[in-house]
Amino acid sequence: MNNIEQIKNESIDEFSSIATQERYAKIAEEGFWKSEKLLIDKYFKPKSKTFDIGCGSGRTAIALAQSGYEVIGIDITPKMIETAKTIALSKNIDIDYVVGDATNLKFPENYFDGSIFANNGWVQIPGKENRQKALNEIYRVLKPGGYLILTAHQRYYSGSYFFFWIKNWVKYYILRKIGFKIEEVDFGDLFFKRDFSDKKIKQRQFIHITSKKEVKEQIINSGFKLKFRKSMGEISNEDAKVMKGSLKKNFNSFKSPIFYVCEK
Ligand SMILES: C[S@@+](CC[C@H](N)C(=O)[O-])C[C@H]1O[C@@H](n2cnc3c(N)ncnc32)[C@H](O)[C@@H]1O
Repeated sequence: MNNIEQIKNESIDEFSSIATQERYAKIAEEGFWKSEKLLIDKYFKPKSKTFDIGCGSGRTAIALAQSGYEVIGIDITPKMIETAKTIALSKNIDIDYVVGDATNLKFPENYFDGSIFANNGWVQIPGKENRQKALNEIYRVLKPGGYLILTAHQRYYSGSYFFFWIKNWVKYYILRKIGFKIEEVDFGDLFFKRDFSDKKIKQRQFIHITSKKEVKEQIINSGFKLKFRKSMGEISNEDAKVMKGSLKKNFNSFKSPIFYVCEK
């Protein structure tokens, strides 16, 4: 098994763990972030066919369905889809949930009106080539004129992150070149433990922290036009105050995550 396969499997295992599933069952109740809602209202056609990629337990899928959209949600983690189905059933909400991998979509081209890869799911795909494949696939299944909304955490070099990235740079660009074995596939790869995870269990999660330039290049390479790019905090002051997730204390929401709106 290569590094990428191993990271992918570890990530699915962590997303399937009891503690993370319990957390995601709560997250499903949180609804749209303010920033998401503003962009969805602006870019998605009301009541159209939307695609929630990396839907998890259904936080955005539920909110979309409750706003009148037809929703198909996919996730690579079977446990997430199981939880999402149970929650939707308990709420009597009609959402079509399927286990699926964003890098290899089982939908025809020009099928969806709009799509969302929420809460940094896209950057939890290990390997730059795989992230590119996912964008290419989403481009293929979207109708012309349709939008993809995604978020990605961004690398910046201030505060406690300054030395962190310098150390990682040396590791990736120097130590690896002279033969050291390292796990990171791309510069910017990061492994983290959640606030609530049992420290005795050796379970960690993967995320790739991007540069704005790299994301823009990947979006353009897939055929999309980059329509809009702003940080969560710049879009909504309210989200800036209540930044979510285990990485929240590490990021300043005026710098990260960044919302990207892509037009086919
Ligand atoms: C941070 S969670 C976000 C879940 C949900 N969108 C939300 O906002 O609550 C990221 C999700 O992306 C999923 N994911 C990661 N890689 C994926 C891939 N290649 N295809 C589909 N889903 C993927 C994970 O299983 C996980 O459920």
